Amino acid sequence: MGRHKYRPFVLLTYPLFPKTVFPLLKPWARVHVAKTRSDFLKQLPQADAVICLLTDSMDRVTLTRAKKLKVIGTYSVGVNNIDLNECRKRKIAVVHTPRVLTRATAELAVALLFAASRRIPEGDQLCRKGGFKGWQPQLLLGQSVSGKIAVLVGKGRIGQETAKFFKALGIRIVWITRRDTETQIKKKLQQAQILSFHIPLTPQTHHWLGPQRLKLLPKDCIVINTSRGSVIDETALIASLKSGKLFAAGLDVFENEPRIPPRLRKLSNVVLTPHIGSAEESTRREMARLVASGVRALFQGKRPFNLHK
Ligand code: GLV
Repeated sequence: MGRHKYRPFVLLTYPLFPKTVFPLLKPWARVHVAKTRSDFLKQLPQADAVICLLTDSMDRVTLTRAKKLKVIGTYSVGVNNIDLNECRKRKIAVVHTPRVLTRATAELAVALLFAASRRIPEGDQLCRKGGFKGWQPQLLLGQSVSGKIAVLVGKGRIGQETAKFFKALGIRIVWITRRDTETQIKKKLQQAQILSFHIPLTPQTHHWLGPQRLKLLPKDCIVINTSRGSVIDETALIASLKSGKLFAAGLDVFENEPRIPPRLRKLSNVVLTPHIGSAEESTRREMARLVASGVRALFQGKRPFNLHK
């Protein structure tokens, strides 16, 4: 019997750090890396586990094909690519990559803040295009961040790490959490000279920042988003940036990635990065190790810390 022990089938949507991931999977599993979405969908009915990216939708329709699926490992901390209700119904466990990317993401929030407040991309463009004609007293005047009030939406790990960095820069922190009432949220938004997002995307947080809340922000506020694009109503944000009400925005995430609306791309007071919050060599390798070891732990009957609740 031992010789014919069933080997679970682990289906990957991407060849994630093979030297890190394969030794964690191959001793006990059959492993296949899908080359295309259609290859993935073809293999899915046989899969006992899937390891996917945040860009791979594991929605209800997809899960309907996954007859044997027990585990999804997503190479991300955010799990909005997965229909969690459907997973609960089908008893599919979800593991993700918390903690390892906290520092990297908070660092990017700080980078975006400085880039936006000191207009670094505009300066870079000016230099590249030959527009720098000599030092000038009024050239690209920005804002200092020191002494400002930053309202941080979301007091999870990444929010708290960002707050540590912000405090070291002399920024005062005000939190908005799930427990705040609408009146409290309003009051806090009215003080926000910097507004930074650190919440997951859920049906409750979709378009958290819309036209009404944007109106409450003081003039010259800077908005930073390293969470998910859809927590902000992008059309309303563009209008506020265009009107000059907001000083600037630093955005790493967008509503319909990889699409970035041309109207947003044209604005000079936005800093845009292509969803690179965790894009740092050792972080990305650790994420791969974490997702694979979380999947392995579940098949060993253990409860890994990165099991999503
Ligand atoms: C990145 O956006 C992640 O959720 O890990």
